[in-house]
Amino acid sequence: MIQVATRRQESVAVKAATLDVAAVSLSFGGVQALEDVSFTVAPRSKCALIGPNGAGKTTLFNCINGLVQPQSGSIRLNSEELTRVRPHEVFSKGISRTFQGIALVRDMSVLENVMTGAAMSQRRGIVASGLAIPSCSAFERAIRSRALDILDELGLGHAARLMPGDLPFGTQKRVELARALMADPTFLMLDEPANGLTSEEVEELGRVLERIWEQHDLTLLLVEHHMGLVMSVSNDIVVLDAGKVIAHADPASVRNNPDVIAAYLGRRRSGAPE
Ligand SMILES: Nc1ncnc2c1ncn2[C@@H]1O[C@H](COP(=O)(O)OP(=O)(O)O)[C@@H](O)[C@H]1O
Ligand SMILES: [Mg+2]
Repeated sequence: MIQVATRRQESVAVKAATLDVAAVSLSFGGVQALEDVSFTVAPRSKCALIGPNGAGKTTLFNCINGLVQPQSGSIRLNSEELTRVRPHEVFSKGISRTFQGIALVRDMSVLENVMTGAAMSQRRGIVASGLAIPSCSAFERAIRSRALDILDELGLGHAARLMPGDLPFGTQKRVELARALMADPTFLMLDEPANGLTSEEVEELGRVLERIWEQHDLTLLLVEHHMGLVMSVSNDIVVLDAGKVIAHADPASVRNNPDVIAAYLGRRRSGAPE
């Protein structure tokens, strides 16, 4: 029987991911979206990236993913340079991402959507090292079995054969998380995962994030406006304002930081956190 090996089953332990962002700058015409941004996300931390609208959070996410190239600076995952690396190569180094809004394929079942998360995950023998796999159908069975395990783990086993549109919004967001986990990432980036969720769904999301962080040896980077989720999940916060890092500290210190309070108060009409 074909096994889909996970990192934890491999004999060589995979190092928890460290992300180093060093002196990253990027402007769009006259808009300085990122200016000399530097910070480190320590291995196994749960880091939140926050800041008022227009602060540069999405631009930085896109730089890390290789969707946008910074004009200067460096971004490294475990010392490996990510700038000038294409998005699928960034993905193959162990970085997975979920997107703001729902990015599921509507005419594929939940199970099929999750299976697509393995499409490029030849990394680290997840797919039982292509050469050892005797046939396509065995390969597909292995992927399917791993997808079902992840769905079960996220409490979504019952939804495997449903279509995404049959599920509540919050459940669809969890399906996206399941898909991101199919690639067996070491570094997981979440783009406003609480956006559009009810307060019960946000609480459930917090518990799910805690669980997957624990069970998948992840380093998390979370862009989020929902301060309740940020404060309950993260142990480290980077605050961007107008393209610059204005604070990087633990949640309690950030909450009381006068520069952070001023940055949010100054933009209360244009996107202060909830
Ligand atoms: N493709 C782009 N072209 C021009 N300006 C952009 C582009 N993307 C982002 N910006 C500008 O860069 C700044 C940072 O945007 P963004 O990273 O989306 O902020 P955030 O995600 O923190 O709300 C904003 O002033 C935004 O208008
Ligand atoms: Mg944004």
